Amino acid sequence: MTAPTSAPAAAPARTTVGIVGAGPAGLLLARLLHAAGIDCVVLESRDRAYVEQRQRAGILEQGTVDVLRESGAAERLDREGLPHDGIELRFDGRAHRIDFPALTGGRRVWVYAQTEVVKDLVALQLVDGAPLLFEAQVTGVTGADSSAPTIHYTHQGVDHTLACDYVVGCDGFHGVVREAIPVEARQTFERTYPYSWLGILADVPPSSDELVYAHSPRGFALLSMRSPTVSRLYLQVPNGTDPADWSDDRIWDELDARFALADSDWKLARGPITAKSVLPMRSSVTEPMRHGRLFLAGDAAHIVPPTGAKGLNLAAADVTVLAQAFTALHRTGSTQLLDAYSATCLNRVWRAEHFSYFMTTTLHTDPSQSPFDTRLQLSQLDRIATSPHAAAELAANYAGLPLN
Ligand code: FAD
Ligand code: PHB
Repeated sequence: MTAPTSAPAAAPARTTVGIVGAGPAGLLLARLLHAAGIDCVVLESRDRAYVEQRQRAGILEQGTVDVLRESGAAERLDREGLPHDGIELRFDGRAHRIDFPALTGGRRVWVYAQTEVVKDLVALQLVDGAPLLFEAQVTGVTGADSSAPTIHYTHQGVDHTLACDYVVGCDGFHGVVREAIPVEARQTFERTYPYSWLGILADVPPSSDELVYAHSPRGFALLSMRSPTVSRLYLQVPNGTDPADWSDDRIWDELDARFALADSDWKLARGPITAKSVLPMRSSVTEPMRHGRLFLAGDAAHIVPPTGAKGLNLAAADVTVLAQAFTALHRTGSTQLLDAYSATCLNRVWRAEHFSYFMTTTLHTDPSQSPFDTRLQLSQLDRIATSPHAAAELAANYAGLPLN
């Protein structure tokens, strides 16, 4: 069968599960529901090219890879994804490796970009999945408390409604579905950080086989990658930084200074920089993740600073739990798992929030931090480097905690 190149022009007027947003959460949920024989529709405000090219996360936990495999969406991931068995921590001019399989009983992570996960899921969806409508801007959801919630959206200049048994907001941090939960029925917990990341993509083979997280007196730096020929690198910068203020040479020089080792003259291989952007950091959790027949999943419910590589993986975990709950309802009529959805996810979400906060505050330099604070950071990093127990805790969180 030839893959269609565009989505169907119109969605049906009713469905069992209405999904708002075709990011990783919405697309994976649609895939899992389709496999379970549950009818759904996905509405996405952007066009296909935009969704497929949005540069974001790059690390998949073992559990995310497992669920992509189970849902039949890992064929290219298994060919092109790069399994990684560890990361390097650099601090105080020295390097220390964290060995994931040795510390976690065999778990590891994969380098495979979010852009590729989204492309794979969109392609499958358009071949044999449920309806997926691009450029369908959801304006609101009514009746979250009723037995028939309705999604309101605009497509090609025309207003439409989609009547649903359940609605799932997978519409990211700036989405609208969360707003359908009355303010008195939800609570948001938030933290902002006094720094951002300047991220670049460069056409040069990565200078390390594994990711390098560097604490330095000049601030944090991260070496990551997208493929054997494309490097992804990040620098801590002040909030409000304009990427235009950072010339290519300034970026490479600063990266070299932050990755510097005391006992070697290790330097990054340089190449043409093809993208530069600044990413603010925030932690946020909205509770509960369910109100009546409306559910939130992924960034619509929670975001983390990217230092722990958790955002995309949390989104995948939420929809895995949710798909299991819808499947149980479909097969047995029991709402037990659906009723437990919010508590089940929040348990894991708060762990990831803590880990992301820990990685962020341990590795970055707060502009107001004192020499005492820096000593505490270095002491904590040294503890991870010298205690298998401390290293195992980091490895377990990084490679991903079990779902339940
Ligand atoms: P999203 O990917 O945000 O998808 C939500 C979808 O909903 C979007 O396609 C959006 O267009 C659509 N939508 C929104 N509103 C509407 C509406 N009204 N109607 C219809 N559709 C709507 N994580 C990392 O681990 N590492 C990183 O380096 C990293 N970088 C990031 C950079 C940026 C700029 C951002 C925003 C996030 C980054 N993350 C990173 C986090 C990670 O990408 C997210 O956690 C992940 O995308 C969550 O997936 P999601 O499907 O929940 O939400
Ligand atoms: C990335 O490759 O974009 C990436 C990797 C690890 C992180 C954050 C981002 O912690």
